[in-house]
Amino acid sequence: MSAQPIQVLLSAPGQQALNAIYSQFIADRRLLVSGLATTPEMLETALRQTPPEVAVVDAELLLEWGERGLIDFLSSRLGQAVAIVLLPRQLERLVGPISQLDRVREVMIKPVAVAQVIERCYQVGVSERVAREAMAPATAYAVSALAQTTGAARAAALSGTRIFAVGGGKGGSGKTTVAVNLAYRLNQVGIRTLLMGFDVPDAIGVQLGLPMAPNSLNWFRRPSREGFTASLQHKDGLDICLSPNDKVEAARIAARAFNQEGSIAGLVEAARDHHPPYAAIVMDLPPTETEWSIQPLLKANTVILVCEPDLTSAVNLVSTIRLLTGVIDDKHKVPRDAIFAVMNRVTPNDVMTPDRMQNSVKDQLDGWAPPFIAVIPADPGVRACQVDFVVPVTRRQEFTAGIDQIVDFFYRDSLGQSVSRAAGKERGILGLKIRLT
Ligand SMILES: Nc1ncnc2c1ncn2[C@@H]1O[C@H](COP(=O)(O)OP(=O)(O)O)[C@@H](O)[C@H]1O
Ligand SMILES: [Mg+2]
Repeated sequence: MSAQPIQVLLSAPGQQALNAIYSQFIADRRLLVSGLATTPEMLETALRQTPPEVAVVDAELLLEWGERGLIDFLSSRLGQAVAIVLLPRQLERLVGPISQLDRVREVMIKPVAVAQVIERCYQVGVSERVAREAMAPATAYAVSALAQTTGAARAAALSGTRIFAVGGGKGGSGKTTVAVNLAYRLNQVGIRTLLMGFDVPDAIGVQLGLPMAPNSLNWFRRPSREGFTASLQHKDGLDICLSPNDKVEAARIAARAFNQEGSIAGLVEAARDHHPPYAAIVMDLPPTETEWSIQPLLKANTVILVCEPDLTSAVNLVSTIRLLTGVIDDKHKVPRDAIFAVMNRVTPNDVMTPDRMQNSVKDQLDGWAPPFIAVIPADPGVRACQVDFVVPVTRRQEFTAGIDQIVDFFYRDSLGQSVSRAAGKERGILGLKIRLT
């Protein structure tokens, strides 16, 4: 899908083993094999001379260096590349320590299916690219918000994850639907994503048909790397961290201050520090203003406000933006550049277009309104999907086209082309001609 294929360095213990994977790699046009290695020396030379984006490191090749040498190599000699490590079964006990290394993104035990290695190379390569380019439009917000709490150097180092907060002042506008489907779609196109819920009781699991636990309580009770991992659930490869289902616990957690151990903001930080890193985190926020929305908002670098094409939503949009940008209370300081709007549940009869909504907002906000980056049609099939725990973005073409507008807005450049076009579906939405800003 990417216009620029992901550059991959392949290694294997011997020519025959290499040939077996090489032919399959070159057949995949999303990848470009930039180097080949059948000895440790060749591996080091290739990393230096034609630096790849992803290195497939077959540990068998490095056995002569011993376990220490292998870990040493993976920790310090990969350059800018990230690694997918193939381990022989006799070294299975190293999966844990190797997985923790900064530049290692995946450890697979041999024998491996080449097709699976190829998929992981692509996903890892895309996620790395996206993370590198993530911060362009909203950098200031990310870095300044982080710098306030964690120090400027750390903020700069961590700014590769785009953290979306999906909000909007009103219940039922489709925040959870947009958050769930955006996260699912991002992950599907190769951008490693975490979906997080902050609405208590949890709203995400209900749409995805997940059990109520595990959820973020596992981290709140034990704020550590293990606690975070234990809070995750998975659906089709997407990582999900549900909110607690318990209002009493939630109120107790909300009482922890922003910088206190085990706070809601701390959970977002743990998610961002998770390894292998997420290229995107999508947070589903509650409609009301509580610590469960304020703290995640302060950790976000991109805010998506979901509204419907009606007058109430226009009024709501203005008050939400005033709140977010600190006009009402300076505990919020989201810069305008980081705020985007999505119009959801649009029917052909609607007259409140994004243009019109923007004008009405501008009148009340000294001439500024957020750009509308997507228009999502009202589709009765969406609810039907959710009742059956099917993710609408996997079934409903026009709805997917709406979600893809969001993906395209943020990632078209990194991915090299539009995701909707890549899917081979040139789709108009309900035949509406909508100009997006
Ligand atoms: N584009 C859409 N088309 C049809 N129904 C939708 C759409 N978006 C959301 N809905 C429905 O609207 C209801 C509220 O959606 P939800 O995502 O829970 O909103 P919120 O999180 O803002 O409260 C759900 O029943 C959902 O199925
Ligand atoms: Mg919701």
